[in-house]
Amino acid sequence: MKVLIAYYSMYGHIHRMAEAVKEGAGSVSGADVRMCRVPETLPDKVLEKMGALETQKAQAQVPVCTLEDLIAADAIIFGTPTRFGNMCGQMRQFLDATGGLWAKGALVGKVGSVFTSSATQHGGQESTILSFHITLLHQGMIIVGLPYTFTGQMRIDAITGGSPDGASTIAGGDGKRMPSENELDAARYQGRHVAEIAGKLFR
Ligand SMILES: Cc1cc2nc3c(=O)[nH]c(=O)nc-3n(C[C@H](O)[C@H](O)[C@H](O)COP(=O)(O)O)c2cc1C
Repeated sequence: MKVLIAYYSMYGHIHRMAEAVKEGAGSVSGADVRMCRVPETLPDKVLEKMGALETQKAQAQVPVCTLEDLIAADAIIFGTPTRFGNMCGQMRQFLDATGGLWAKGALVGKVGSVFTSSATQHGGQESTILSFHITLLHQGMIIVGLPYTFTGQMRIDAITGGSPDGASTIAGGDGKRMPSENELDAARYQGRHVAEIAGKLFR
């Protein structure tokens, strides 16, 4: 049973969350888990101006996603930073290249799930995940979120991401806040949950 984590991360927050998702999915027996990053669309000059060159280099060892990766997976967990309450352009562009897969129904019946990151606490995490789900539904995927059995999302003693839609982290206005242990636990839980469901469906 193959689980793919397909993500984009400009400043490393989603990358860190993706590693935790991988850990969670990998804890399920029989799960073959892979991570890939969707292709960059911005030239290095622009990334440099955005202060993202170093974090991009730090992810260089992660292979770039291909359409074949999507076809081969039983479950795909997508990670995207929030951009104006939506997925980032890099992810949108990658998904917009899946028209041929849609035409063949190549993703129909696969499990799909989404996690995200935003600068601010109420800056659109839920809208990013829920609007992402529309694309997955058009592709015929079975959507899985982060159930309330992950009780860490009920916490109010500390600022935290995480909702029934999916795991999330809050990067802060300056991007300096990295995912908290609770947010990483949510990501692990989501990875495990998706892999368990995919295992039941595809084994
Ligand atoms: C063009 C642009 C739009 C953004 N829009 C939002 C937004 O709507 N809400 C928000 O809280 N943060 C927003 N952010 C901040 C990003 O969500 C934040 O940098 C990201 O979550 C960090 O994740 P990463 O390190 O994986 O790239 C935006 C950032 C950029 C560059």
